[in-house]
Amino acid sequence: MEFSIKTGSPEKQRSDCVVLGVFEGGKLSGAALALDKAAKHYLSDIIARGDMSGKAATTLLLHRVPNTLSERVLLVGLGKSAEFHAKQFLDAACAAMRAVQATGAKDATLYLAELPVAGRDSTWCLTQAVLAAYETSYRFDRLKSKPEKDNKSLQKIHFGLIDGKQAAALKTVQNQAVAIAKGMKLAKDLGNLPGNICTPTYLAAQALALAKSHKSIKTTVLEEKDMQKLGMGSLLSVTRGSEQPAKLITLEYHGADKKQKPIVLVGKGITFDSGGISLKPGAEMDEMKYDMCGAASVLGTLQAVAEMNLKLNVVGVIPSCENLPSGSATKPGDIVTSMSGQTIEILNTDAEGRLILCDALTYAGKFKPDTVVDIATLTGACVIALGHVASGLFSNQESLARDLLAAGDQAYDRAWQLPLWDDYQPLLDSNFADMQNIGGRAGGTITAACFLSRFTKDYRWAHLDIAGTAHKSGKEKGATGRPVPLLAQYLINRAKDSKQQ
Ligand code: BES
Ligand code: MN
Ligand code: ZN
Repeated sequence: MEFSIKTGSPEKQRSDCVVLGVFEGGKLSGAALALDKAAKHYLSDIIARGDMSGKAATTLLLHRVPNTLSERVLLVGLGKSAEFHAKQFLDAACAAMRAVQATGAKDATLYLAELPVAGRDSTWCLTQAVLAAYETSYRFDRLKSKPEKDNKSLQKIHFGLIDGKQAAALKTVQNQAVAIAKGMKLAKDLGNLPGNICTPTYLAAQALALAKSHKSIKTTVLEEKDMQKLGMGSLLSVTRGSEQPAKLITLEYHGADKKQKPIVLVGKGITFDSGGISLKPGAEMDEMKYDMCGAASVLGTLQAVAEMNLKLNVVGVIPSCENLPSGSATKPGDIVTSMSGQTIEILNTDAEGRLILCDALTYAGKFKPDTVVDIATLTGACVIALGHVASGLFSNQESLARDLLAAGDQAYDRAWQLPLWDDYQPLLDSNFADMQNIGGRAGGTITAACFLSRFTKDYRWAHLDIAGTAHKSGKEKGATGRPVPLLAQYLINRAKDSKQQ
């Protein structure tokens, strides 16, 4: 898909379809008003007849509107103008994209960027419209023997602007949005791949491929023997039941002075989580192929960062293995020594994410990081607490929590902060080791974060629990590409801040 920006009145655009917004009650958006004037009230007459209510996310396709150079005009309902918030905009943008894609239009000009969304500017509208275009056209059908031939005629999307003043700035925004959308696509594709294809070795190959396609990225892959030498007894305890070799993947992106401390992203890369000896129940266990979505979001974000050429140094660290039961698998009660030297009593082998992350977080310290953010499908309890809307956020520094929450809000990929108070720490006390790997049912998301916090004392750190947000279940089963938008936005903001200093 190609994107461009076009300034001028909608009736003068020569494209296969022009998309215009209409509010409930018939109030026309600025662009719709301009076209209506040129078309001698053709649109307002249709609205008066009751054929387009303007109700949120409804559409009406018109052909050969008078005095209009484009073949088609698509009206999209925006809902009540007093309630035109981010969500209403996103629903309308997705509905418009789906409706355009259902026609034979090869290109379309969308007058969406200048819509008056409460608290959002045209930068935001344009970014979200690009993401909606990718989201609505995403399919994962590479493993079907005969993929359905869907209408792929839409090739070009133009963003129409009546006010040309912002065109240059919006061009940069558009390029960044495309980079984020492609990063999300990479994360979705990796997430949706089944565990028999997307193994730790496959993830490592993807990371090496990213380094090949982007000169600014360097990838290294550590093998189990290397991890042994580093003393990663906790990470290695998880892979014991698997035939697939574990990998510790590192991607280094250099976009700033070598001396500038990097931001390190650590992504959980369990390519299948059966629970191990503490075996999970069978229902929906297939969804545990998504247990590498943290890793996928790190790969997607690094790709986006490289394509945006951000002036920052960013490192991705991905501990990856499978969690399976076997005669050599770790057993409940086993005690292991982490790279940090702290010992862990493994009371539940299904709490494996924290066991691979703790060693990866210790390893992250080697990069003398400015900030470390880990991203993990860590706890089912997070899905119970926050559902599928917000990711759980924890941090050992308030300003970092604030920056990540703000980036999530900006990108409409939101997180919600939970407490990391010391009062929860005793739940991890063990009679036999320095700590145990579970804290009981109460506050399960918090005690998991508390566990990680014991390995991140030397740097500014945040943890994102994406168990509820990385993928959807049921009929809509599939990876979402989250939290690539949040992470990319955070890094865009960080790159801007360091420029100002
Ligand atoms: N990968 C799971 C968490 C998960 C659950 C992600 C549901 C997405 C959807 C994690 O490894 C896990 O099994 N956690 C356990 C921890 C418990 C044993 C303390 C859980 O949440 O049940
Ligand atoms: Mn598990
Ligand atoms: Zn897991």
